[in-house]
Amino acid sequence: MKGWPAMRILYCTSEIAPYAKTGGLADVASALPQALRRRGHDVRTVMPRYVHIGADERELKRIVRRIGGDFFSRPYWGEVWETVMADGATPVYFIAQPELFERKELYGEDGRDYADNHLRFAYLCLAALELLKRLNWRPDAIICNDWQTALIPVYLRNRAELRDDPFFQSIKTLFVIHNIGYQGLCPREAMREIRLPDDLFQPAGIEFYGRLNLLKGGMIYCDRIATVSEQHAREIQTEEYGFGLDGVLRERAELLSGIMNGIDGEEWNPADDELLPAHYNLKRLAGKAKCKRTLQQECGLAVDAELPLIGMVTRLATQKGLDLIEAAMARLERLRCQWVILGSGDKLYEDLLAGMARRRPRQCYVRFGFDEQLAHRIFAGSDAFLIPSRYEPCGLTQFYAMRYGAVPVARRTGGLADSIVQATEKAVAKGQGTGFLFNAHTPEAMLTAIRKALKVKTQEPILWRAIQRNGMAQDFTWTASAERYERLLQLLISRGA
Ligand code: ADP
Ligand code: GLC
Repeated sequence: MKGWPAMRILYCTSEIAPYAKTGGLADVASALPQALRRRGHDVRTVMPRYVHIGADERELKRIVRRIGGDFFSRPYWGEVWETVMADGATPVYFIAQPELFERKELYGEDGRDYADNHLRFAYLCLAALELLKRLNWRPDAIICNDWQTALIPVYLRNRAELRDDPFFQSIKTLFVIHNIGYQGLCPREAMREIRLPDDLFQPAGIEFYGRLNLLKGGMIYCDRIATVSEQHAREIQTEEYGFGLDGVLRERAELLSGIMNGIDGEEWNPADDELLPAHYNLKRLAGKAKCKRTLQQECGLAVDAELPLIGMVTRLATQKGLDLIEAAMARLERLRCQWVILGSGDKLYEDLLAGMARRRPRQCYVRFGFDEQLAHRIFAGSDAFLIPSRYEPCGLTQFYAMRYGAVPVARRTGGLADSIVQATEKAVAKGQGTGFLFNAHTPEAMLTAIRKALKVKTQEPILWRAIQRNGMAQDFTWTASAERYERLLQLLISRGA
């Protein structure tokens, strides 16, 4: 914004692509800081150093040798390592503490969270704050994300040595909720372990039905709250979507904003994506047919240009509507289309999908695990892309799908509702219709939307092309959203509210 000074912003998160990723937060934590830096701000990021961080180890520089011995009642010494993001400018600080962070997974194994997650992420938060002092770099604002970094605002307001330190006093915090369904719940005893004052353990504080709720702490002690789409900002104030925290959010409604995520348009571009067997764009779609053929071959499906192929790339969780897939399984299998599904998560859903692939190997292919490369090939090779989420704060896969010419079939909720326009003939003619939305979270509503999409794909090719092109023509890059974050932070810093 003209006339405003550049800001110093610390972006604190538990995952950043490509270093560590379990979901959309990692993509956002890579793209948004770089977008804000392009706008002239001094943005720096901090995350844990897990075992495998997808970074060239030789490019990491150790900048702090000993940090954090006296954070808790027993010492945990750590180090800080630094690299820069793909833009060659945005610093990433890795907090290294082998005992806490060098685990097989980021948050838990075999469907169970690590029992000491409160300690692990409390350490991240305190080390990030301590690092600022060591660097003598005082940010104007800290952006915290989800329960893993929710303790930053809590500590800044409640831990005496931070609260009373002039270095920290003017720093504003923006707490971004990416997923209210994950709250970082722990037993009361955790309060002592992570050295939180006992008097915070009350309903007006960090207590939640007898347990400690880290996400709630972030919401209560931050200066501003954001979530990742406007629709979701409204939803989380309702009982249906608030996961028990809707009351807290209604009370703080004037501090809550919804800002839709964007995508990294360079990383995700079918015109030059190195992970694809062929390239294409809005005007020349021929390469997409080759991507579909190659995907069918790779997955052992019948190679058929006409048969619609539906893709899914998703965490296998109830949030993502896997319960609908389960309920509709027999009917889905009978549809005249193919399926390529990439997912990781609940064993229950893995078994369900494995059964589908076993019964119909020429029609359904399923891959479990996290595979960034296959994900790109699925977006490019699919005709349609299914996202039947129960709730979806923003969702990124609909953006990638549209950009790659795969038409989304999605539940009208959260960011899906804000970013996909129902493809009625009228809307398509106006250049707006981009997908097929359904309202009710029922297998019937989902099936109706899928059938409608398949019908248009097979019987109305001109309309289908127009829908595809409308999606590809959308600008989902960060430009507009980064500007909204910038404005929010500038107001917060200047007005102090
Ligand atoms: P969420 O963060 O709730 O999982 P999003 O749609 O915001 O949902 O982001 C999911 C991100 O993770 C997308 O970039 C998607 O492509 C990616 N993703 C999800 N599951 C997999 C997987 N099994 N393999 C590769 N990428 C995946
Ligand atoms: C969460 C949400 C998803 C959102 C992502 C990034 O994981 O489930 O909807 O896109 O965070 O904000």
